[in-house]
Amino acid sequence: MSAIQPEAATELVSTSLDIGYDKRLMVFSGRANPDLAVKIGGKLGVDLGGVTLKTFSNGEVYCRYEESIRGADVFFVQPTCSNSRTGITTNDALMELLVMTDAAVGASAHRVIAVMPWFAYSRQDKKSMPREPISARLVVRMLEAAGVDRVLTMDLHAGQIQGFFQKPVDHMTAMHFLTQYFSDLGLDDLVVVAPDVGRVKLAKKFSEKIGAELAVLNKERPAQQVAEIGYVIGDVKGKTALIVDDMIDTAGTLKAAGQTVREEGAARVFATATHPVFSGDAYENLASSAFEQIVVTDTIPLREGAPDNVRVLSCADRLTAAIREIFTDGWVSEVFGGENQLF
Ligand code: R5P
Repeated sequence: MSAIQPEAATELVSTSLDIGYDKRLMVFSGRANPDLAVKIGGKLGVDLGGVTLKTFSNGEVYCRYEESIRGADVFFVQPTCSNSRTGITTNDALMELLVMTDAAVGASAHRVIAVMPWFAYSRQDKKSMPREPISARLVVRMLEAAGVDRVLTMDLHAGQIQGFFQKPVDHMTAMHFLTQYFSDLGLDDLVVVAPDVGRVKLAKKFSEKIGAELAVLNKERPAQQVAEIGYVIGDVKGKTALIVDDMIDTAGTLKAAGQTVREEGAARVFATATHPVFSGDAYENLASSAFEQIVVTDTIPLREGAPDNVRVLSCADRLTAAIREIFTDGWVSEVFGGENQLF
């Protein structure tokens, strides 16, 4: 057998690499928010990938891709929320994202990107009392252990959650299109109200963007999921108050905040938040509140029966633009004019 000469070997190697490789972009939806995934797929001009997802009678979650995903950049649209229409819970959504990731890694995807605009457990980002878990960190560990390469998320409860990750995180915000919406309403004498001190930075940016005053409420939590508002720092009398939060869960915070600013003399009250968790008595609390409008986004799908004062704006444009930039190794922060790290 004759040995290959060095020149011939070089030729062989370079020829074997020249295979006209085209990276593929594939988008798959879990069962948490298929409507959002369809919107994103439509804007990207790609059909959602075929995947079988089911829950066995014992509650275990199953997933299998219906086509090859070898070498593709796979984007999973799966905010970790419940969906009453598809019948999955928050924990199912998380587990589904994990098994989708495991299956994609095993099927030789090039990169696995979790598009989870709503990040469940984000409020458990530190110990508030002894012997509690730091559940947000645990979720991050599970995602990374499963093999997620990158996470695309939106308005995290605390920006520092990014620090739990070893992998890159693209942190989007809904602030730009929410502020645009309220600017377009042309409300007079607007004051942006932070419902607690944790939201002051967000509310301040919001107020600067729409040229409004800022006020802050003093919120106490006597027990988990119970909100009490003490007093207002700032002037809301005779003004249009816009309460800005990252999420509305039971709407206990919002209801108490709305009542307080009305008692302090606000003429009109509006509210906005990125994530409509809307659990427990949220709809009853919102329906019986003084809010003219409660403006949220579609990071989380609404269950049936939302009160008439709830408006939903889509975050699909922003997520689509970010996905494009990630896929092409472009410039994600440019989608937000460099203003996506809010706090
Ligand atoms: C708290 O820090 C959050 O930003 C929200 O204000 C809170 O989690 C909303 O919860 P709920 O609607 O149940 O009062």
